[in-house]
Amino acid sequence: MKKTISTKKLNLRLKVKSKTRNFALGLLNKLNFLDKSFLDSGFNKNIKETLINKNFDKASEIFLKNRWAYLEDPIEYSFYRELIKSWPNTIFFNPYPTDTKIQDVGFKWGSFMSQEQINVNLKYLNSFAGLSNFYSYLRSQKFCERVRKLMQINEEVCCYYISSRVSKSGGKLDFHMDGAGKIKELKNKAINIVWHINGINGSKNGGLCLSKNKDIVSAWPEGLIHESRQLKNSCLIYDMTNDIGNYHGYPPMKSNIFRWVITSQFWPKSCLSINSEVH
Ligand SMILES: [Fe+2]
Repeated sequence: MKKTISTKKLNLRLKVKSKTRNFALGLLNKLNFLDKSFLDSGFNKNIKETLINKNFDKASEIFLKNRWAYLEDPIEYSFYRELIKSWPNTIFFNPYPTDTKIQDVGFKWGSFMSQEQINVNLKYLNSFAGLSNFYSYLRSQKFCERVRKLMQINEEVCCYYISSRVSKSGGKLDFHMDGAGKIKELKNKAINIVWHINGINGSKNGGLCLSKNKDIVSAWPEGLIHESRQLKNSCLIYDMTNDIGNYHGYPPMKSNIFRWVITSQFWPKSCLSINSEVH
């Protein structure tokens, strides 16, 4: 009974938050404060700069050995500053309707989405130069080839999904394995790269963790494999295959902190039409 009441309360709170944000967005749109050029031009096909530095490629050896790798400062510094400076306000993100994942998500793109859905989700993307260039670069053939080399697989790799997420104190992601990790065609061929863009460096500050056990939060730190402690410019790369036995998530965030991340998944081109639930 108690649970039903608290779920109802949570849903009501999320509804009010989403409605208020949509109202604010509508107002900004009416006042012509937002760039909607994505609807005509789509992603930028001419990203000349290399936004991710060579440390990314060097992580291949460690990734192949452990099936995960953590990198600090992978985003080129000049671009990183642009990304931070032009990061969208929280009104561009909406809460997840679940209590296992307390964070807000926005700018969702997936290779399985219809153009109509993409246009709804990314309508205002070009209002944010850093985010817009980062999405275009992650989707580029050039970067996907770097991902293929990192994974050392012999088939073309493409970007499957990208999203941006924000959370603050109390935010959390319960430890889990991804649904896609069960798909046999993806075994050791699909990876998730979570880019920590901004936050406060430290433990339990929203950095993505890997663990051997699902109950890691109560058993902490028993079973912890890795905790990302640099929230400003780092990334965690992990093989999504469930058979490896690793869970990912992050414990409830301490007070007075925040977290901005971009998540990106890369799959073999032959599997792109599979629509898997994305966490
Ligand atoms: Fe996940």
